[in-house]
Amino acid sequence: MILNLKGGVAKTATAVNMAAILARGYRKRILLVDADSQCNATEFFGGDPNKGNLADVLRHEADEGLFAVASIQSSNFLGVDLLCGSDELMDLDLTKVELQGVRALVLREMVQQLAAKDQYDYCIVDCPPAFNAASTAALIAADDVVIPIKLDAFALRGMGNLMRQITNMRKINPSLRLSGCLPTMWYNSPLIVEAEKTLRDSGLPMYPHIRRTNKVDAMTFAQEPLLLTSPRSAAGIDYREFVREYMERRS
Ligand SMILES: Nc1ncnc2c1ncn2[C@@H]1O[C@H](COP(=O)(O)OP(=O)(O)O)[C@@H](O)[C@H]1O
Ligand SMILES: [Mg+2]
Repeated sequence: MILNLKGGVAKTATAVNMAAILARGYRKRILLVDADSQCNATEFFGGDPNKGNLADVLRHEADEGLFAVASIQSSNFLGVDLLCGSDELMDLDLTKVELQGVRALVLREMVQQLAAKDQYDYCIVDCPPAFNAASTAALIAADDVVIPIKLDAFALRGMGNLMRQITNMRKINPSLRLSGCLPTMWYNSPLIVEAEKTLRDSGLPMYPHIRRTNKVDAMTFAQEPLLLTSPRSAAGIDYREFVREYMERRS
């Protein structure tokens, strides 16, 4: 899962490019779950929340896992299927879980159902910049977490809180690992280089950085991943390298 409590750190850019690279480059079958009420990943891959979305899945009563599986749709990118986001995800507050009958285990049950059917190789969750019902359900279901970080003076702020949440969640999901922090939108300046070094020195597992390029904005307009729009751009190359390392760390 792709998680950071901050917005605008390239969670969605990472999720959609990772999905595309795994599907096209590695021939993996990918399920992308959009856990953000902004629905950027849903829109990017041409999903229709009316044909099923995570908010409905989190509220569904009986046979939750089966209902979740039935809510999956194909995307406009071959090899990537979607469980769409919904603006209703915003209303699903974790503190009202019981009140609203939200089922925190539903994604875990869905993943187990899918594993039994051997339908997908990877499930990627694009998280909202918040701890809410959707991100909690993802943490309970996930094997690992990738944390995109935009390098600035505030980059490390909030990381302690995030680490605590991940550690806490291990009581429910013991297999949850921090795969690594992924510095994004990197550019060559003394301040950015220094911020990256500080992050590395903090002892957290790290990935090589993703360079900043306006090809990423362009990709969102084109609604096609870097692999199709600008595979040789700096970020296009860096995301492929990130996925290669990610796969290496999994094995
Ligand atoms: N490597 C990059 N270089 C330049 N711009 C980027 C890069 N990665 C992301 N962006 C831009 O930053 C903004 C935020 O990215 P996004 O993936 O939507 O973040 P989040 O999902 O964390 O809110 C978007 O406008 C996106 O195009
Ligand atoms: Mg996003």
